Amino acid sequence: VTTEPTIAWRDGALELIDQTRLPAELVSLRLTAVPDVIDAIKRLAVRGAPAIGVAGAYGVALAAAADDPRTDPGAFRAAVAALRSARPTAVNLARMVDRVAAAAEAAAAPGAGTGAAGSPADAALAEAHRVRDEEREASRAMGERGADLVLDLVGRTPVRAMTICNTGGLATVERGTALAVIQTLHERGVLAEAIAMETRPLLQGARLTAWELGRMGAPHRLAVDGAGPFLLARGAADVVLIGADRVAANGDTANKIGSYSLALGAARAGVPFLVVAPESTVDVATASGADIEIEDRGPAEVVAWGGVATAPPGTAAVNPAFDVTPVDLITALVTDRRVVRFDQGHTLT
Ligand code: MRU
Repeated sequence: VTTEPTIAWRDGALELIDQTRLPAELVSLRLTAVPDVIDAIKRLAVRGAPAIGVAGAYGVALAAAADDPRTDPGAFRAAVAALRSARPTAVNLARMVDRVAAAAEAAAAPGAGTGAAGSPADAALAEAHRVRDEEREASRAMGERGADLVLDLVGRTPVRAMTICNTGGLATVERGTALAVIQTLHERGVLAEAIAMETRPLLQGARLTAWELGRMGAPHRLAVDGAGPFLLARGAADVVLIGADRVAANGDTANKIGSYSLALGAARAGVPFLVVAPESTVDVATASGADIEIEDRGPAEVVAWGGVATAPPGTAAVNPAFDVTPVDLITALVTDRRVVRFDQGHTLT
């Protein structure tokens, strides 16, 4: 829950809360050029699948303003290609970049000059605003539908919910995905506690989710990632709620590293495990989790924190930013349009 929009378009520039500076400082970046948008996405100044989709959408609007696809289609397409590949795992980025680029290209087509869409840059900006508005509506719908499902599955109140990474307003446009469900439970007066996993190596749970839960006044505790399955075994949570970076056609779900461990722990403990994600994160063109590209962010984030070494010099590290939870460990997927009960044999397609 943020009072400032995570992402805003103001006076020809993309303004973003700089998430690398939280929780110490709430400051915004003002971006006017495509390379700056790419840099912000790569270094996680803006992050979370829906949020990078919206940032990429506005990035295309900046690209169309800088390199008009009518006069320099090569430069425009190169900028679009660079934007769409800034991060590989969340389908929202490539999908929204492609969608806004298609709107700009349609306005650039011969004969389109008199169309209602205006210039390619105008058309791109209008489409980017639509992407933002759709994500805002989606986050509202997911919160309500997910809270209903949690109450149905848990069968008693108040509810204790475990979550990982950050899936709140910072990761989307407004209320979020999994954290929107937790916020809705809190607003309904039925949240006993949220347990936020800290989310190594970049601490999105500690830095961002604990910050958002604090601002919404929701009771919460932070736990180290390794404690998740054990806490579930000891009955510390009634439900696990996660977001998604990509949901494959068979329901396998890529999300922040550590999600799979929670799913295994939840299955063992008999705790419902729910994925909450907008339809914009569902990718039926990807058959299964094995086909999802997982971003490896390199060793630096693992062997140091805040400029201080946490491992001996020269230590090798592996750093997958995401994992894949197989659909058989997922109780249900909640989107802005539907609930898919995998536990009851329902399928996405
Ligand atoms: O690397 P990040 O911080 O972008 O990872 C984000 C996540 O894994 C989120 O859980 C996911 O994008 C869903 S956000 C609503």
